[in-house]
Amino acid sequence: MRRPVIAGNWKMNPPSLDEALSLAAAIEVAAVAASDVTTVICPPTIWLAEVARVATGATALGAQTMHFEERGAFTGETSPLMLAGLASFVILGHSERRQYDGETDEGVGRKVASAVAHGLRPIAAVGERAEERRAGETEAVIDRQVRAALAGLDRIGGSGLVVAYEPVWAIGTGDAASPADAQAVASQIRAILRELDADAADEVPIQYGGSVTDANALEFFGQPDIDGALVGGASLKPETFGAILRAGQAAIGGDGA
Ligand code: 13P
Repeated sequence: MRRPVIAGNWKMNPPSLDEALSLAAAIEVAAVAASDVTTVICPPTIWLAEVARVATGATALGAQTMHFEERGAFTGETSPLMLAGLASFVILGHSERRQYDGETDEGVGRKVASAVAHGLRPIAAVGERAEERRAGETEAVIDRQVRAALAGLDRIGGSGLVVAYEPVWAIGTGDAASPADAQAVASQIRAILRELDADAADEVPIQYGGSVTDANALEFFGQPDIDGALVGGASLKPETFGAILRAGQAAIGGDGA
């Protein structure tokens, strides 16, 4: 059974360092209790170092994006060298970055390869937009995005890869995908992984993301190809995120520490 990876993507929240530190401290307590789950928080990059002092063991840290180059004239960017040692995960290709920051399939592929080369576990995010789903293009979009994201990897085994399926229409809307629809896409992603690296496909955690709450998490985690969640809004509420971690713990059959 795969160990669930439950990651909180804080996005551009909360607005102050004090709030970030208390949120991280509260999540650390919940993470200690969910010992069979890999708990990840992805605060704004500017606070990674300080949050690391509070998230002292049970919580892993992730960045929300990075550049693929190690250094250079890239104003406002963060390099994998700067993240290494500070974060262990990095979300790449989030739909908000594709939408607002011009991230392309090809660029996401370069970032995933760079993250792995620098010892960071990529959380490669893919997902169709509402109009794509309506047009029956979900499968084609997922196929294109997943293959592009993994194009720069020599092998998947040992890469630490996590794939997050986040339908864009489900993000921040309260309109989560049905567990069956999410499972159908997760299973498609697993099949692509199997085609690319048959031995490693079953190691890769596939997360669902998009309006995950403590009320629906357990149902997602019960799906055979869903191994955790990428959580936005609910990851800013420690009680709710703690309950999602407990759902992950329950799904894997453990009772925690
Ligand atoms: P919500 O959980 O707020 O829908 O956000 C999902 C997301 O974008 C996580 O990366």
